[in-house]
Amino acid sequence: MPAPQPRFGIWTQVYGASGSFYHPQDPPDATWERNRRLVLEAEALGYESTLVAQHVFNPRDDERDQLETWTASTALAAITSRIEIIAAIKPYLFHPVVLSKMASQIEEISHGRFSINLVNAWFKPEFERAGIAFADHDDRYAYGQEWIDIFHRLVSGERVNFHGRHFNIDNYQIRPVGRYRARPIIYAGGESEQAQDLAASAADIWFINGQNLEDVRRLIASASGRKRQGQKLRYALSAFVVARETTAEAEDELGYLLDLAQQDAPLRQAMGRQTDPKAVMFQTFARNPAYGTNGGTAAGLVGSYDVVAERIKQFFDIGIETFMLQFQPFEAEMRRFAEEVRPRVARKVEVLF
Ligand SMILES: Cc1cc2nc3c(=O)[nH]c(=O)nc-3n(C[C@H](O)[C@H](O)[C@H](O)COP(=O)(O)O)c2cc1C
Repeated sequence: MPAPQPRFGIWTQVYGASGSFYHPQDPPDATWERNRRLVLEAEALGYESTLVAQHVFNPRDDERDQLETWTASTALAAITSRIEIIAAIKPYLFHPVVLSKMASQIEEISHGRFSINLVNAWFKPEFERAGIAFADHDDRYAYGQEWIDIFHRLVSGERVNFHGRHFNIDNYQIRPVGRYRARPIIYAGGESEQAQDLAASAADIWFINGQNLEDVRRLIASASGRKRQGQKLRYALSAFVVARETTAEAEDELGYLLDLAQQDAPLRQAMGRQTDPKAVMFQTFARNPAYGTNGGTAAGLVGSYDVVAERIKQFFDIGIETFMLQFQPFEAEMRRFAEEVRPRVARKVEVLF
């Protein structure tokens, strides 16, 4: 059963800003206080979800602040009451037994609103400077496959015995589990063949980076044809929104943002030199220059309120259920989207049902 209406989420501001670090109305702020206020406001505005990305230090500039994912997600779980909280996890940073225990605890604190986003890492210095080996792309996915298998079984309440290439688990179970629903939801991000196999075999929802409708349709067809057991794979999309009364105004605003982003170019280039060249995600970004992270404006959510609502409906029609959004300045544009775009989407989609 597809969702009756699209769901909307916001990227928690773990880096301090989704777009340029030089926006005069949105200077980088990755503090807990800012993110606390942001997520509470998003929840009050009706957003259904928030994604807390994971990096130990800021990939664009290690002198800048970076919000810590798992502690912040725990606190968000305690202070919110309705919004879904998705915490990203890079398997090499946590043993699956420890992380399963943490996830189950946040699931309990949130009364069944917690999810993880399994991401297999691309930013080499975060590992190498800590003395953690940064394995080859495909080996990282093989490790992630064992990791998520153990996670899935433990958070589902199984007593686990697992003897693989990377993990040896004997007679392990965690409690409490399943107090509010069967287990936390599992999202997975990444675009490579291995990422798609992993999402199809082990995730509930595949997270796709922002890109045009045809490419997203092709990716959904590719992932949905893979080996899978149980319920159908579902889909979420990341996107940066620039919406105004008219498309001309939105395009002017995007032009302004792209000008600002020129100041960020040295930081982006330095980051680019430290990424895994095999990460397919960055090959996609190189083909589709855009504003914002994770594909950003390449999803095409730039235009008049009606145009943006129509594009969202088109993505929804091909299977995107959750839209994880970025804005800049974040709070003001998040409000504008809730007031202007979301009701238009609802009216367009209602016609279908
Ligand atoms: C929505 C979304 C969120 C992501 N969040 C993170 C993150 O928090 N941390 C991270 O290191 N990578 C993150 N990624 C990156 C991917 O999981 C993956 O590491 C990257 O795409 C490289 O893998 P690939 O070659 O399969 O594309 C995210 C990807 C997507 C689509």
